[in-house]
Amino acid sequence: MKNLINKIKNLFSDDIGIDLGTTNTLVYVKGRGIVINEPSMVAVNNKTGQVVAVGKDAKEMLGRTPGHVRAVQPLIDGVISDFEVTEEMLSYLINKAQNGFKLLGPRVVVGIPSGITGVQTRAVRDAAMNAGARTVHIVEEPMAAAIGIGLPVHEPTGSMVIDIGGGTTDIGVISLSGIVNSRNIKIAGDRLNSDIITYIRNEFKILIGEKSAEDAKIATGSVLESDEGLESVVRGRDLITGLPREILVTDKDIREAIHHSITQLVDMTKEVLETTPPEIVSDVLQSGIYLAGGGALIRGLSVMLSDMLGGIKIVVAEDPLTAVVRGTGIMLDDIESYKESLKEHENQLSPTTK
Ligand SMILES: Nc1ncnc2c1ncn2[C@@H]1O[C@H](COP(=O)(O)OP(=O)(O)OP(=O)(O)O)[C@@H](O)[C@H]1O
Ligand SMILES: [Mg+2]
Repeated sequence: MKNLINKIKNLFSDDIGIDLGTTNTLVYVKGRGIVINEPSMVAVNNKTGQVVAVGKDAKEMLGRTPGHVRAVQPLIDGVISDFEVTEEMLSYLINKAQNGFKLLGPRVVVGIPSGITGVQTRAVRDAAMNAGARTVHIVEEPMAAAIGIGLPVHEPTGSMVIDIGGGTTDIGVISLSGIVNSRNIKIAGDRLNSDIITYIRNEFKILIGEKSAEDAKIATGSVLESDEGLESVVRGRDLITGLPREILVTDKDIREAIHHSITQLVDMTKEVLETTPPEIVSDVLQSGIYLAGGGALIRGLSVMLSDMLGGIKIVVAEDPLTAVVRGTGIMLDDIESYKESLKEHENQLSPTTK
């Protein structure tokens, strides 16, 4: 009997939580935890239209592909840039997360940036449905991050999260299971990388690649002058001689390069605080502002933000890169109780897609 029950159980898919990020895609499977954590990248064969590789394998091909293979980032600035590729990627992830064939597809919770349009939200849902999901629930990233961090989202008290990802920074203030106030800008990790590329081109007359800029940001970046003394070697092409050249980049260089973008993040945070009801701001003053996403790891950011915001407590979430996907996992355990927190609570494949 037990055997039979297990056999029947095996026909059902395990529920899945997905953080569909611009830079990284993470998948959580109920009962198993985070099973996939890979770059959001797909390699496509131009001749056949077939997907050749997904995730790490596809990223390694970036810039090294033969003419007929192109590496595509399905999301740019937190928005779907290529619907078909996104669908392929979701399909790959959903299949990879399952053990073998299942009769019934999984229930899926997908985290997306706040401020995404209705059309884009629907595109994500349709992509997940077409990729084999049984039901799809969509949650905004700051909400998922808050749940992942363990903030009291259901309570009548304000919680505030800043999720600095690759493509977007999402700020959300949450109370009573809903988002009370939020902002979303396309200034996040990718922008900081391009700031660094521009700065090095202007100051050193060297053209460096995206990956070198990111490495320098992570190794040497700090928003605090007190972190002085950090440096790293960056290689690129000398714009005058056309030859490869190597330079030493310091924390001061990176600080100058990203200063403008960081100021915009601070301004947006101020704006959110200024437009949030006073009672809720007073809750946030007590509990602090939580930082999530890879950008939370920028050296000195919490100290600087606190200084700029009149001493308010800033907390970097534990394991900030996985906060959103952990949130989707927690929601899967009791989807009914998170109904109010979902952006979309849909079970049907929309008629327009079939
Ligand atoms: N130690 C670090 N210091 C600074 N930046 C970091 C660090 N580690 C990762 N990052 C940056 O974090 C970004 C990726 O973060 P994350 O995985 O949260 O983004 P995402 O969820 O894919 O994007 P989005 O939420 O915008 O769709 C990258 O830009 C990466 O360079
Ligand atoms: Mg993210």
